[in-house]
Amino acid sequence: MNLTGNAKLAGVMGWPVAHSLSPRLHNHWLEKHRIDGAFIPLAVTADHFPHTLRVLSQVGFRGVNVTVPHKQAALAAVDEADDRARRIGAANTVIFRPDGSLFGTNTDGTGFLAHLHASIPGLDLTSGSAAVIGAGGAARAICVALADAGMAEIRICNRTLARAESLALELGPEVLVINWADRAGLLDEVDILINTTTQGMVGQPELDLDLATLPDQAIVYDIVYNPLETPLMNKAQARGNPVVGGLGMLLHQAVPGFSAWFGVEPEVTEELAAFVSQGLVER
Ligand code: ATR
Repeated sequence: MNLTGNAKLAGVMGWPVAHSLSPRLHNHWLEKHRIDGAFIPLAVTADHFPHTLRVLSQVGFRGVNVTVPHKQAALAAVDEADDRARRIGAANTVIFRPDGSLFGTNTDGTGFLAHLHASIPGLDLTSGSAAVIGAGGAARAICVALADAGMAEIRICNRTLARAESLALELGPEVLVINWADRAGLLDEVDILINTTTQGMVGQPELDLDLATLPDQAIVYDIVYNPLETPLMNKAQARGNPVVGGLGMLLHQAVPGFSAWFGVEPEVTEELAAFVSQGLVER
């Protein structure tokens, strides 16, 4: 990296941020496209988040990605947000405009969809039903994307019922809530099962879900990407279901931000996935 005084700057704000793969990802694209620019990890506490966001926009940054725990604060801090970010209730991408204003969007759900379509060519989501496990921020983004894609039915099942109910209320009539205790019945006739919880992640127990009633053709998508293959994915694969892991969602959600900040639409490739996943080993 050899930066000039005109270098284009962006970064990722989080607390902690050391685990983030976004610097590895964006800087790989910057090198590939020989762009005079850098993407910086920015460790910022909640107290300092709104002020720091504004200051970054005043010192030449073009924008930032926002990760845990600041995505909701980012939506509150921007001057304008798109409809998608408002419906999700969080922004993961902020663009600093030339007039000094801050624009927020959320690319988590669209990143999920882009990865799903890239993984399963010809997939038609304009009907059918999805079962979503979890009701946190990732579930919100994915449910909004599924509803926008035209999915006829979305079933949400979360350990804490109240969170699933409030998400369902906001999303509309195509969303059903299933009690955690009744989750065995969640999978009847679904076209896609999505784990949005932290279960199955390194250091966490596997998701406690019996797949016996899952249709053979149903896709199983696990947003967990560390490990790259989770116990849920292994279990689904063993019974013949198509499975997709979450690393691609991380890669695809980064594309709109990179395009806005650095002026080039980057590609998500197998080679990129291998390079970024190597960061899991090194961190
Ligand atoms: P994110 O914003 O990344 O989705 P989150 O808001 O912390 O993260 O949500 C994590 C999800 O994992 C939640 O749906 C959570 O369930 P609760 O709402 O009941 O907390 C789910 N989760 C975490 N630990 C779990 C466990 N041991 N069993 C089942 N679900 C769990």
